[in-house]
Formats: sequence, C-alpha cells, structure tokens
Amino acid sequence: MAHIAVIGAGHVGTVYAAGLASLAHDVALVDIDRRRVAQLRAGKIPFYEPGLVELFRQGLAARRISVTTDYRRGLARREFVFLCVPSPITEDGSLDDSFVTAALRGILGHTRARARPIVVNKSTVPVGTGDNAAGSLHGSGIRIVSNPEFLAEGRALDDFFHPTRVVIGSQSPEDARSVAALYEALGAPVLITDLMTAELVKLGSNAFLATKISFANALAQVGQRLGADLAALRRGLELDPRIGAGHLRPGLGYGGSCLPKDLAALEHVARRLGAPYDLFAATAAINRYQRARVVDHLRARLGRLDRARVAILGAAFKAGTDDLRESPALALGRDLLELRATVTIWDPHAQRKALAAALPGARPCASALSAARGADAVVVATEWPEIASLDLARLRRAMRGMLFVDGRGVFGPQQAKRAGLDYFGFGLT
Ligand code: UGA
Repeated sequence: MAHIAVIGAGHVGTVYAAGLASLAHDVALVDIDRRRVAQLRAGKIPFYEPGLVELFRQGLAARRISVTTDYRRGLARREFVFLCVPSPITEDGSLDDSFVTAALRGILGHTRARARPIVVNKSTVPVGTGDNAAGSLHGSGIRIVSNPEFLAEGRALDDFFHPTRVVIGSQSPEDARSVAALYEALGAPVLITDLMTAELVKLGSNAFLATKISFANALAQVGQRLGADLAALRRGLELDPRIGAGHLRPGLGYGGSCLPKDLAALEHVARRLGAPYDLFAATAAINRYQRARVVDHLRARLGRLDRARVAILGAAFKAGTDDLRESPALALGRDLLELRATVTIWDPHAQRKALAAALPGARPCASALSAARGADAVVVATEWPEIASLDLARLRRAMRGMLFVDGRGVFGPQQAKRAGLDYFGFGLT
C-alpha cells in the first residue's frame, strides 16, 4: 500500500482517487474548492461518470479516501502526489501550465525538505514542462514523473482498470519503477521513457484520435457523394487491425476538453519548431466544416435563418457524460444564434441551468418534445439512448416544419422518412 495525495478533484482526479483506493492505496484527495470537497466527503460526485459514485463511496467507507482543502494535511507523509489540475489552452493555442506550476509551488511549500514526494503529473502540459520543472526543483527533493492519463469520459473506470498502456516519463529509472509498481495489479504493459516523450505521447494520442475522426468524416463525404454503403465502408476499414476500430464514426465532429485542445497544442508546438503542421490544421478545419454542413443544409432548405426555429437534441460533447466543454452541439447552437435563428436545446443529463449558461440566447427545454415544439428543424447532436428511443412521429407532430438532421447516426433515413421527416445525415446508418 502506498500513501498518495491527488491534487485536483476534477474528473481525472476523482476517478484516480477512487481507482487507486480500490487498488488498496491510501489516498488523500486535495482541492481548493470548499463546496466540492464538502460534496465529495458526503459521497456526492459533482459530475456524471458511470460507476464512480459507488466506487468513491466504497473508498470513503473503507477509509482509504480522505478529502480536504488543506494542502498541509493532504500532503503529510505522502510518497506520491498525483497532479490532476486543469491545463486550459491559451489564445495562441499553447497549453497553460500555470495550474501545474502553482500546484508544484504548493507541494514545495507544504512538505518538509527531508520527506518530499515523487510528483506524478497526470495533467496534459506543454511539452518540456516536466524537464523545466525538474530543473527548477533540482535539489528540493521533489522528483517529477510524467504519467499521462488515457481515460475517456463515460468509460473512465473501465479505462482505469484496463489500461491499454501505462506510460511513465522520468529522469530517474528508479522513480519510474516506483510509479509503475502502483499499477502492478492492473497487469498493463508499461512504457518507461523520458519526461518529454511521455508528454508527447499524450498529445500525439489525442491528436491521432482527432485525425482519425476527421479522416472518417472526409472519407464519408466521398462515399456519400458516390452513393456507397457507408456502414460497410467503415467496417471494411475497422477490420484491418492496423487501422483499428474506434474513432471512425463520422458525424458532427469531435469535441470535449481533450481532443480539440491537445490537437491545437500539437499544432502550436509543431509551428514553433518549424515542423509540418498542416495535417493538424486540416484535422481541425474538417471538424469545423462538419458543423458548417449542417448550417448550409438548413440555409438551403429554409432560406434566411433569422425566422427559423431550430431544436438541438443533445448538448453533451458525447453520450455518457454531462460534460458540455467544447461540445459540437453548443458550437452549432452558437453558429445558428449568430445567424439570428431561434434555438431551443435539450439534453437528458445536462442541467437546464448549465445549458442556459453554456449557450446564452438559446432556450433550454425540459424535454425533447418541448424543444421540438414549433421547430422548423431538429438536429440530433449527441448519441444519447434517450434520443434513440424517441418517437419520431410524435416529434414530427410537435414541429411546424419537417427538417431532421441526424448528426450522430442515431436514426436511419428510412425510420425518419416513415415519421414524415425530411432527413439529412452523415452516412452513419
Ligand atoms: C479522449 C480520449 O479518447 C482519451 O483516451 C483521453 O484520455 C481523453 O480524451 C483525455 O485526454 O483526457 P474523451 O475526450 O472523453 O477522451 O472523448 P472521446 O471518447 O475520445 O470522444 C471525443 C469526441 O469525438 C466526442 O465529441 C465524440 O462524439 C467524438 N467522436 C468519437 C466522433 O465524432 N467519432 C468517433 O468515432 C468517436
């Protein structure tokens, strides 16, 4: 059993706290947000992640998880400190490492010189952050290890317990091995490398996933124009293990707090170094274009959009999470509002208050039917099962028009046509 502090009780930090505790480690979860800490202590998770509430409560009950706002208490006698703080993107596309730097200062200030921990960085940082920090902390007793996380929201626990790989970047093989030992029970392949390479593995992995999606979107357009069977086309690619299944679903494009940001960060570093960046830029451009296709279609059918009413069904950036960050649904909503359309929005899991804040100017609704009432067009933006089970004929009756855009391949064209809807899709079904 190791004594671990996890700094940052966001999505990654909370999953790691619960996961590490269930591997029999003793975990102190530290966050500066008092309200969040109080909620977590009471076993309440402030976001939606399947299975997490139960696992977190087990950790609390077994006294393997404690939650605190107090750095000094949280860090006392900890051999490892996991950094799970945000790393937002700045205006120029680079990653902002100020939270990481502040957390490192906090660790330095609240630990004793003779018993300083290994800092395990999970936050996605600008490439080179680890080496810079290691340089400036030299002699302090703090050692830095980069151990990127590969948790996808909505299946984060599964990813925690069945990792495809554990990547550990360090200046010291001994520190790397101590961190690897924390995950031993998971039996995953371990890759030990230097700090910078580990940081680049993270950016490269997410940028590749984004590229796969944009590739799938570009290919689907060729297939669509030719009249190909797009489901078979996708399957034909997926069956090749070199291509692999996953992230080949065309649609409204990728969003979330990771893929867009990490792709932009990779483009930024490539530009800075004079390396080719066109592929990364093209990936982002295709992603934006997927949204523009919806707007173009609505304009072609409805003419000016300033008298149009559009209902967006689904607001989360994907199903299985209530996370609205960088959601294609909201980006589309903003594009439509800019063209002065009237926009209603509904999501089965996001709170109406959160929707109102995330998409000012749109009307958040309590149900799909109330969002669709009086609409000229309905756009499916998230592949929620609650949307897949909607009665399309009822939806059609609530609308005043009949345009139906399925941005996530939830319904087949025939199904929509039977309900009297005029279907536009991305060739998913
Ligand atoms: C992503 C990675 O998948 C994780 O491995 C990584 O750890 C995580 O970022 C992170 O850096 O923390 P996540 O952002 O939760 O995870 O979401 P994904 O499941 O990768 O989906 C991203 C976006 O791509 C979603 O908007 C989704 O709708 C879209 N997508 C996904 C497609 O448009 N097509 C697909 O075939 C797959």
